[in-house]
Amino acid sequence: MQIFATVATFALAACGVAASPTPSWGNWGNSGNPNCVSRSYIEGLIAQEIVFLQHKNVTAAVAAGNAIFDANIAEYGDSINSLRGAPLGTQVEFNATSYIAETTSTPPIPQIDTLSLTVDCNQYVWQWRFYGIGPGPNPYIQGITLGKINAAGKIYYQYVEFNSLAWAENSGYKVTPPTSGPYAAPSA
Ligand SMILES: *[C@@H]1O[C@H](CO)[C@@H](O)[C@H](O)[C@H]1NC(C)=O
Ligand SMILES: *[C@@H]1O[C@H](CO)[C@@H](O)[C@H](O)[C@H]1NC(C)=O
Repeated sequence: MQIFATVATFALAACGVAASPTPSWGNWGNSGNPNCVSRSYIEGLIAQEIVFLQHKNVTAAVAAGNAIFDANIAEYGDSINSLRGAPLGTQVEFNATSYIAETTSTPPIPQIDTLSLTVDCNQYVWQWRFYGIGPGPNPYIQGITLGKINAAGKIYYQYVEFNSLAWAENSGYKVTPPTSGPYAAPSA
């Protein structure tokens, strides 16, 4: 897992405004707020989420999903709505039961890499790269997940956005640009 310097910078800024009389290195993990979860806790959730999303082993994937998701997890994201043909703004998932069942019934994902992770108290932005979606032609699909964690330490909200045009191409959609008009692709 690659961790970028911007995250440390963010934690530093958060400590700066906390105005604690006894600044502690230990507080850097949770922005100095005991009501915030630590970065390492969120890293653990994401490691489990990768097992879930890849679902190379469905038994392990279901267990991981049940471990990290609140039963009433809500997922949103218009990249998925566009791929599904659903109106923009439609809620994508309403509970862990159907989210886990839908995900583990799709083809497994060979590799998921973390590109960056930014943590802010009980929410985070995880930037990821999926390899091996569909037959191609794109080698990878890249996107972000905004996640939120409840008091029980479970993920109860996800907002997912990614390159759905590349995902569509990889899963067999034919994507052709207009040949005329103001949005026409420039001629080669
Ligand atoms: C799949 O995961 C389960 C649960 O962790 C484990 O018991 C099982 O051995 C795994 N199967 C394989 C083929 O690795
Ligand atoms: C979970 O959500 C689906 C819709 O995505 C719904 O059909 C199903 O009834 C829900 N299940 C539970 C247990 O709430």
